[in-house]
Amino acid sequence: MELLPSVVMMFVLALCFESLPSVRAQSTTTSPGPSSTREAEALDTLLQQYAYRALVNPKTGTIYNVTHLPSTLTGIEVAALRLRSGSLRRRGFSAYKEFEIPMGFIGSPYVERLVLVYQNLGNWSTRYYPLPNYTYLAPVLGLLAYDGSNLSATNLPELDIQASDGPMLVKFRDVKSAPQGAVAKCVWFGLQGSSNFSNVTGGNTCSSSQQGHFSIVVHYTATPAPSPQPEKGSAPSAQGEGENDNKKTWIIVGSVVGGLALLVLLSLLVLCMNKYKQKKKMQHMERAAEVGEALQMASIGDTKAPAATVTRTQPTLEHEYAP
Ligand SMILES: *[C@@H]1O[C@H](CO)[C@@H](O)[C@H](O)[C@H]1NC(C)=O
Ligand SMILES: *[C@@H]1O[C@H](CO)[C@@H](O)[C@H](O)[C@H]1NC(C)=O
Ligand SMILES: *[C@@H]1O[C@H](CO)[C@@H](O)[C@H](O)[C@H]1NC(C)=O
Ligand SMILES: *[C@@H]1O[C@H](CO)[C@@H](O)[C@H](O)[C@H]1NC(C)=O
Ligand SMILES: *[C@@H]1O[C@H](CO)[C@@H](O)[C@H](O)[C@H]1NC(C)=O
Ligand SMILES: *[C@@H]1O[C@H](CO)[C@@H](O)[C@H](O)[C@H]1NC(C)=O
Repeated sequence: MELLPSVVMMFVLALCFESLPSVRAQSTTTSPGPSSTREAEALDTLLQQYAYRALVNPKTGTIYNVTHLPSTLTGIEVAALRLRSGSLRRRGFSAYKEFEIPMGFIGSPYVERLVLVYQNLGNWSTRYYPLPNYTYLAPVLGLLAYDGSNLSATNLPELDIQASDGPMLVKFRDVKSAPQGAVAKCVWFGLQGSSNFSNVTGGNTCSSSQQGHFSIVVHYTATPAPSPQPEKGSAPSAQGEGENDNKKTWIIVGSVVGGLALLVLLSLLVLCMNKYKQKKKMQHMERAAEVGEALQMASIGDTKAPAATVTRTQPTLEHEYAP
């Protein structure tokens, strides 16, 4: 019976330890490094192919949504837009999803038609663009230019596009609010793994004179121990590390509390079973005592020594004596 509680305890401990390695594994995947840059470049290449496939007899200046992405990339949104280089330079493109491209953008090397591939990385933002010590307040959006002369081409290099008149604007939708006291920043990721921060204007707009990937972030300040909870809570971050940590803490706390409750329940069960066993034993002993009494009486009957003290059985004794 003493085995059961220790088995339960081991179960609880196993639950606790099981949740620990996953915490470590997750935090290493969000660490920065050249591998994430390579992965981001591989993603660009892949998304370019899917974007070009959506361009079947495309109309110049029409936005084509990519509807067939592999299920492994669920959550990412891609679109393609083919333009004449001359038209882009003279007129820009006022509303390509969140991007506002003013006139004056010039691609090099020069191509007659170019394709602008739009990416919204959604919940994959931190996976492909990990930014230590920052929390994303908006998904990472990408705008990349390619040669649009051959729509079957794959592994195309990006064209270099540069603003000559003014920067393009990225007007993010649904920007999460920054925690109190924290300042939201625009972040830009260049194609070679470079990045840069700039000020957010109008609460949701970033500007850039180059292509690349963009988002709005807030520095993740290591708050002193007393009040980390409200700080994390008020930083609404679907992709943030804060929420992940919170979730893991809750999983650990949950399994410990659940395990303890189970332990208490099982202890009660063990206690009840012990009580029941004891009761049974008592009943058994009582019955045994009764049988013993009878035996005793039998021997008394044999030796004919009327030493019985139990009055209840006396009538029988007398009856035995009678003949
Ligand atoms: C493309 O997707 C956007 C939403 O992401 C939608 O508003 C738009 O209507 C779609 N365009 C086409 C042509 O389906
Ligand atoms: C993003 O969300 C989709 C479902 O909407 C899910 O299949 C995918 O695994 C998520 N990606 C990440 C990196 O969590
Ligand atoms: C992130 O913050 C931690 C602690 O505040 C610091 O040790 C680390 O160097 C920072 N990482 C980067 C890349 O700035
Ligand atoms: C377009 O690219 C595909 C794939 O690289 C190639 O097979 C094809 O010959 C190219 N077409 C033209 C007209 O260059
Ligand atoms: C980052 O931006 C600043 C101005 O905001 C600029 O001076 C600097 O050259 C930029 N750095 C890179 C690597 O683009
Ligand atoms: C960004 O904003 C800060 C304060 O809000 C200001 O001091 C700084 O000059 C701004 N930087 C630029 C490049 O506008």
